[in-house]
Amino acid sequence: MTTTGGFPVTRMRRMRRDDFSRRLMRESVLTPDDLIYPVFVLDGHDRTETVASMPGVERQSIDRLLKTAERALTLGVPALALFPVIDKALKSPGAEEAWNPDGLMPRAVARLKKEFPELGIITDVALDPYTSHGQDGLIAADDPKGYVLNDETLEVLAKQALAHARAGADVVAPSDMMDGRIARVRAELDGDGRIYTRIMAYSAKYASSFYGPFRDALCTAGNLGKGNKYTYQMDPGNSNEALREVALDLEEGADMVMVKPGMPYLDIVRRVKDEFKVPTYAYQVSGEFAMLKAAVQNGWLDEKACVLESLLGFKRAGADGILTYFALDAAEWLKKGK
Ligand code: PBG
Repeated sequence: MTTTGGFPVTRMRRMRRDDFSRRLMRESVLTPDDLIYPVFVLDGHDRTETVASMPGVERQSIDRLLKTAERALTLGVPALALFPVIDKALKSPGAEEAWNPDGLMPRAVARLKKEFPELGIITDVALDPYTSHGQDGLIAADDPKGYVLNDETLEVLAKQALAHARAGADVVAPSDMMDGRIARVRAELDGDGRIYTRIMAYSAKYASSFYGPFRDALCTAGNLGKGNKYTYQMDPGNSNEALREVALDLEEGADMVMVKPGMPYLDIVRRVKDEFKVPTYAYQVSGEFAMLKAAVQNGWLDEKACVLESLLGFKRAGADGILTYFALDAAEWLKKGK
């Protein structure tokens, strides 16, 4: 280090000294434009239910969801990501309800797009809310091990994605981790003339234990039982494999790619962004939300400061956007901060 009279010439603290120079040198910023709000949709009318492991998050019927959508729009949050809570009676081994054009998802999408055409609507493409066994794909009837079949599942996913697109979904988001699903879904959409329906691929989705509260929210945890998703979701120890997954999804026609979970996988977000330089998203999943909320409720963490810091971390890691259950709160805090 160069010194004058024994003192540092380069003083990093000079630029940190005042608010104006801190602001001038800030590399990453978080705005409401970066946020996507995941919501849980219930059938019925004027219904909401709390989710025990996700304080502040509710399952909402479509009419209630309209108010949430309006709030998102007012706060400048660009899009909602929809997840359906499917009645037990409608679940089956073949997940037929997944492509019912009058099902809960198409109805929710159509209603939201009618009331708020400018709000982006993203739908989840995967079978877990619809299968009686809780897996994201189909299982052969005579298979005691319950291995999820790949190519058979693709056909159902394609029909599901098309049902969502026909209802007006702007973005379909396959979260199932089957091989070849992006190409199959793209072909189905294009075959129906839906060339502008975007695909957000859950490209690097890990077999994570942080999805627990989400499975409570969708009431799918019981269906899955002791089962797991290790034969299709990625091993948390892997990183190069994530790059191969992203490369494949891009080749197959993905417009946006995602890494999931978020905070424990920011190294993957950075590698994906550096390697591909494409629209890259990360999902701060239900377990991450629960973890932060629990600390906040105990008075151990300051909610606003810690949540905004966690979201800024995603931007710094290279994410163009973040799916987070804090989206509306964060947008509100960002607005007030101005
Ligand atoms: C299922 C799906 C999951 C999540 C989004 N889509 C759970 C899973 O794979 O079991 C998790 C989201 C969260 O935990 O917030 N296709």
